[in-house]
Amino acid sequence: MKTLKIGNVRIPNPIFLSPMVEVTDLPYRLICRKAGAGMAYIEMLYVNAILHTNKKTQNLMKTSKEDRPSGIQITGNTPEEFKKVIPHLKPYDIVDINCGCPSIRIVGSQAGSFLLKTPKKIESMIRILKDAGLTTTAKIRLGFNKNNVLKVSKLIEKAGADALTIHARLAVHRNHIPAEWSWIKKVKDNLGIPVIGNGDIVNGESAAKMLDIADGAMIARAALGDPTIFSRVAYYLKTRKEKEFDFKENIRYFNRYLQLAKKYDVIDLNRIKYLGTNFIKSIQGAASLRQQFMGLKTFNEIQDFSKSLEEKEV
Ligand SMILES: Cc1cc2nc3c(=O)[nH]c(=O)nc-3n(C[C@H](O)[C@H](O)[C@H](O)COP(=O)(O)O)c2cc1C
Repeated sequence: MKTLKIGNVRIPNPIFLSPMVEVTDLPYRLICRKAGAGMAYIEMLYVNAILHTNKKTQNLMKTSKEDRPSGIQITGNTPEEFKKVIPHLKPYDIVDINCGCPSIRIVGSQAGSFLLKTPKKIESMIRILKDAGLTTTAKIRLGFNKNNVLKVSKLIEKAGADALTIHARLAVHRNHIPAEWSWIKKVKDNLGIPVIGNGDIVNGESAAKMLDIADGAMIARAALGDPTIFSRVAYYLKTRKEKEFDFKENIRYFNRYLQLAKKYDVIDLNRIKYLGTNFIKSIQGAASLRQQFMGLKTFNEIQDFSKSLEEKEV
């Protein structure tokens, strides 16, 4: 697989794990990297949460030497906040600005995908981070409620961004509407910086198709509860054949997740339950296993249960 350069940062391969709230903490990023992801970001953090940090945010901001190249994703609504947050961003190799989150809370604060309505703000935010010497990228959608992706992309490049990720939907579009990849190609044809395509990559074939039109392919939902998507994509890129999903291999990754959560002292039982149910969803009898899993009360109970799944006949 080809390597990719974002600014001066070398990404070992062009398959990215998407930042995902409630998912991509340090242990999750590490298991996805182990499975083959070339890059993985900390989930979106609001700049104010970083400035007024609490234990949860501190845990989310943890990184390690295996978590390289490291990336953090931030959002906010004023360039001034971005100036204040710079010292907290220095430890990371790449800082990504979220201009795509459609959640009511974030849009209500005029951050996330709302920024697509005020592209000049995105431009100022990028300039502030770049002036501080940070390798800076942005993740956008095609627009908020109307497509302005070419205009916004060109502005982002002009502001000095080192790469751009496009989730090829409008912010008002839900995920059942197919991502419009033709726009990723149009942006790629108009920009000099690396373009990473995102939206509806579900297997080796779709990742390969994305790499035909973009410099990188970013995967979100297909990696939720399935880090082995990265090894399967790598296999496809090498052989042009899809590798079958292996439940036990995947559950071993979940067990590794639990060990790492303990090692890095970031255990969050709600998150573990959410992730665990996603790991279980793909096997026969998932509904009853899920019920048993949700009834578990302690970390040790979860660890024992999950270990027992490695032995289970599927
Ligand atoms: C649970 C979940 C959490 C997400 N959190 C983030 C986030 O923190 N930052 C971000 O840029 N996108 C976030 N997204 C959007 C994804 O990164 C991605 O753009 C979108 O799901 C489309 O990619 P996919 O088709 O591979 O899922 C999230 C998506 C999901 C499903």
